[in-house]
Amino acid sequence: MPGAFACVRMEGGDPDTSDGGRNANAMRAITPLPRRPAWKALVSHHKTIAGLHLRQLFAADSKRGERFTASGAGLFLDYSKNRVDAEAMKRLVQLARESGLRARIDAMFRGDRINVTEHRAALHVALRAPKSATILVDGKDVVAEVHAVLDRMGAFADRVRSGRWRGHTGRRIRNVVNIGIGGSDLGPVMAYEALKHYSRRDMTFRFVSNVDGIDFVEAVRDLDPAETLFIVSSKTFTTLETRTNAESARAWLVQGLGGRERAVAKHFVAVSTNAGQVSAFGIDTANMFGFWDWVGGRYSMDSAIGLSTMLAVGPANFRRMLAGFRAMDEHFRTAPFGENLPVIMGLLAVWYSNFFGAETVAVLPYENYLKRFPAYLQQLTMESNGKSVTLAGRRVRYATGPVYWGEPGTNGQHSFYQLIHQGTRLVPCDFIAFARALTPLGRHHDMLIANVLAQGEALAFGKTEAEVRAEGVPEALVPHKVFEGNRPSNTIFARQLTPETLGALVALYEHSVFTQGTIWGINSFDQWGVELGKALAQRIMPELTARAAPRLAHDSSTNQLIRHYRRAR
Ligand code: F6P
Repeated sequence: MPGAFACVRMEGGDPDTSDGGRNANAMRAITPLPRRPAWKALVSHHKTIAGLHLRQLFAADSKRGERFTASGAGLFLDYSKNRVDAEAMKRLVQLARESGLRARIDAMFRGDRINVTEHRAALHVALRAPKSATILVDGKDVVAEVHAVLDRMGAFADRVRSGRWRGHTGRRIRNVVNIGIGGSDLGPVMAYEALKHYSRRDMTFRFVSNVDGIDFVEAVRDLDPAETLFIVSSKTFTTLETRTNAESARAWLVQGLGGRERAVAKHFVAVSTNAGQVSAFGIDTANMFGFWDWVGGRYSMDSAIGLSTMLAVGPANFRRMLAGFRAMDEHFRTAPFGENLPVIMGLLAVWYSNFFGAETVAVLPYENYLKRFPAYLQQLTMESNGKSVTLAGRRVRYATGPVYWGEPGTNGQHSFYQLIHQGTRLVPCDFIAFARALTPLGRHHDMLIANVLAQGEALAFGKTEAEVRAEGVPEALVPHKVFEGNRPSNTIFARQLTPETLGALVALYEHSVFTQGTIWGINSFDQWGVELGKALAQRIMPELTARAAPRLAHDSSTNQLIRHYRRAR
């Protein structure tokens, strides 16, 4: 067994626990989803449960609120307000087994090339494996490499934070600008916002992603180049947006420091897998922090892509975050499916997508520091599971990845919650809350928590016509004031938003996505769907700027829009 990540070899007996890889062959022989016995059983069970109201489910079991809960890695999940009963959960867990989830988990942790279309492992779990672990990819221990990079990042972060790393003019670095997009931006900016409480307040952190020049212009407008460090974060180092922003940053810096090209060395570092492109750009590879092709962009915030996070919160807090990731990895790897947070959440997402026709999942953190968490999850979930062919390349005949979206509470309550409460669509919700505020302020936190609990209760139980009438509401208004209820939600509770909790939370969703992808039999680790638009943009770019009117061979709409832009620019 190549991956001895103190993992994979697990206790026997329970059908959910590891078989040390013996199931690998079984994975290849998985029955198509609609023909799996558990799926068929769920189709039939859904007919019974679809007509049941959460009021009935709670009335039938006084302990439901305690029974339908699970804990792991410092997170507590209450999933009792979902439209499931014990039978549905049993069948869903059976579906996970019949879908080969156990074998897939083992394969992922072992470093198998489960990203079959890119012939790569999907080994983000190695990024937080303990130093003592060994995971071999092509005969090389990747854990040792991971820790070597972490140590270099730590040493660099200490130099910058202590002022030992000086800019070209001898001034210390006070501003850090991360340039990257997609996974090279969303994770870093989300983690920076989430862990702001732990960050250096005497340093400024900015994030530039969009090729819209305004993003860069606004990010640097009040910064002094002599005190600014750019981190160019790009797995491939070929991404158009990042290259363009990095070039503008270099020009801004050089101009700001009196045209001195040599200044680049002290003000630019890179995070990439592509040393050749990094050095072609003019960044010394001694100032490059590497990672590996087996880390997907959207699974990379705990790799060197998290350098800005480490600069903000310090190496010790970054390692605390990794410990949180690791705790959730271990929970995912070892907990029986029926008690396994990512598995339960993944199965519920499948349940609503495929059996209730739900199109979306709303993620609603009652914690303002998590304001970028839904945006981060959009890429994690939708770039991963927005697929319509199976691993074998066959068109699926069922819905796959739902749309994830959200906003922090209580803001969302005064915006889109109306639709969740009284609209015609079913929107399963994930509420995220913390028992303790990081900076308590009067009664704010109790009010915040009262709101999150109230929302789950209102969505589940609603208000009946009789209840509305009993309040003396005029008859004409009664239908408007009825809340059907029966709208499902999960509540994820943690003690406090710490680096560990953040790591656990991100890993929870990473593994939930993987669970969903496994049930659907799709590849959660490639993203071919982003390529076509990129290629077309490359073709259109010269057509927009050519002096002479170009011969256009697009569709009539695109041709017309290009002409319109050329006239108006
Ligand atoms: O747009 C797709 C994508 O490849 C994402 O998967 C990735 O996170 C992003 O672009 C940025 O890529 P890179 O880090 O190589 O610049």
